[in-house]
Amino acid sequence: MEFHVYENARAACEAAGVLIAAQITRKGDSVLGLATGSTPIPAYEMLTQWYDRGVIDFDRVRTFNLDEYVGIDHKNPLSYHAFMQEHLFSKVNLRPENVHLPSGNGAADAEAYDKAIHGAGGIDIQLLGIGRNGHIGFNEPADDFTYGTHVVTLTADTIEANARFFKSADEVPRQAVSMGIGNIMAAKCVVLVATGENKAKAVYDTIRGPITPRVPASVLQLHPCCVILTDREAGKLMLEE
Ligand code: GLP
Repeated sequence: MEFHVYENARAACEAAGVLIAAQITRKGDSVLGLATGSTPIPAYEMLTQWYDRGVIDFDRVRTFNLDEYVGIDHKNPLSYHAFMQEHLFSKVNLRPENVHLPSGNGAADAEAYDKAIHGAGGIDIQLLGIGRNGHIGFNEPADDFTYGTHVVTLTADTIEANARFFKSADEVPRQAVSMGIGNIMAAKCVVLVATGENKAKAVYDTIRGPITPRVPASVLQLHPCCVILTDREAGKLMLEE
């Protein structure tokens, strides 16, 4: 597991953009695993800029997003479909048929999504943020690690953390469809970005803690190609070691 601390959040996220751009440069038909949340936005900005300058080309790139809320209209600006349109898909030459997100319809989604990832040859590089409780995608702390794409009931902590995007916590959907830990672990390379002091404990537990489904990201200790990029705040407990 590689761990790098950057002076600020922007630099940490842009470094993730560098790794994704390098992957696309190396393999034009790369399969990207993409993430939502506020953390990856600068990475998408960098990818858009490099696309505009002709450095990278998304014509043959395929993408699979980690997750989507259950029962949310894809046109709702708070859906992850809308988020991806706004921050990446509308800005680069990704072909609509090459872009995939769980539909958010529930269990029926799950098996089809895993088949589609498999059919694309698996994910070359998976971008991840992390929840304050160590969740990745929407894989919440649990008794067991999940394998494939599945329906998740969000924890109170995640509902509260994500309420900042909605009018109130009451409006946050209670369920989501998420790739499982198995899908994430099957990616050839994983890049996790964490910024801000409220992620410091999750980062420390991910890297130094026991491998446990109570801290879902801790399983990444077993991944053969995992890079964790943080700003000074999120890397604080690691720096204090
Ligand atoms: C959501 C997403 C995660 C994301 C997390 C953190 O729960 N499902 O993929 O990592 O939020 O978001 P943020 O980057 O805004 O802190």
